[in-house]
Amino acid sequence: MTISGGSLLGIGVLVFYAMAVLNAAAKPLLRHTKVHAANHPKMKATIEKIARFLIKNHRLLGRIAAVLLAAHAGVQYFRFGASVTGAAAAALLVMQVTLGAYGAKIKSRGGWLIAHRVIALLLPAAMFIHIF
Ligand code: HEM
Ligand code: HEM
Repeated sequence: MTISGGSLLGIGVLVFYAMAVLNAAAKPLLRHTKVHAANHPKMKATIEKIARFLIKNHRLLGRIAAVLLAAHAGVQYFRFGASVTGAAAAALLVMQVTLGAYGAKIKSRGGWLIAHRVIALLLPAAMFIHIF
């Protein structure tokens, strides 16, 4: 099986989306390891390292997903033409990154964060429809 560069870029979008969305799991995870992994210091340290990385780099990971999306959309457009399902998923991802940048700028936890969480949940559905 050969995987085209365009597909690889699409897979890259998925991977960075996944790392960005895990931000939501990282904080509860940090709380849980304190209690439930107290007797497993090595595992606790590893989980905490990963969780802190995801929290610290959330904005960057989301932005990388958007950059890879632009490259994927460009390559696929010239190879295959427009994709309605791709455009729908892309619209959501661009909204997501814009909302995130807005929220990071105003430094509050208002309505934008609710929208940011809802779109984070809608994105896998849109991506699934696009890919399968
Ligand atoms: C969040 C947005 C997107 C994600 C996560 C994504 C992801 C992917 C992935 C993983 C594949 C590979 C599927 C495979 O090889 O079987 C793919 C294929 C494709 N994508 Fe996207 N994509 C997105 C947006 C777009 C956009 C905006 C376009 C517009 C041009 C597009 C056009 C295509 C096309 C035409 C294919 C099919 C290539 C083929 O038939 O082999 N995608 N996408
Ligand atoms: C693929 C892109 C992205 C996804 C899937 C995503 C997902 C999420 C999720 C699920 C949360 C909620 C965390 C919680 O409930 O505790 C969140 C929070 C947040 N996101 Fe994003 N996000 C993305 C991109 C971005 C970008 C590009 C920025 C900024 C430039 C950003 C800024 C924020 C901020 C400031 C918060 C609230 C504070 C925090 O929990 O860290 N996000 N994001």
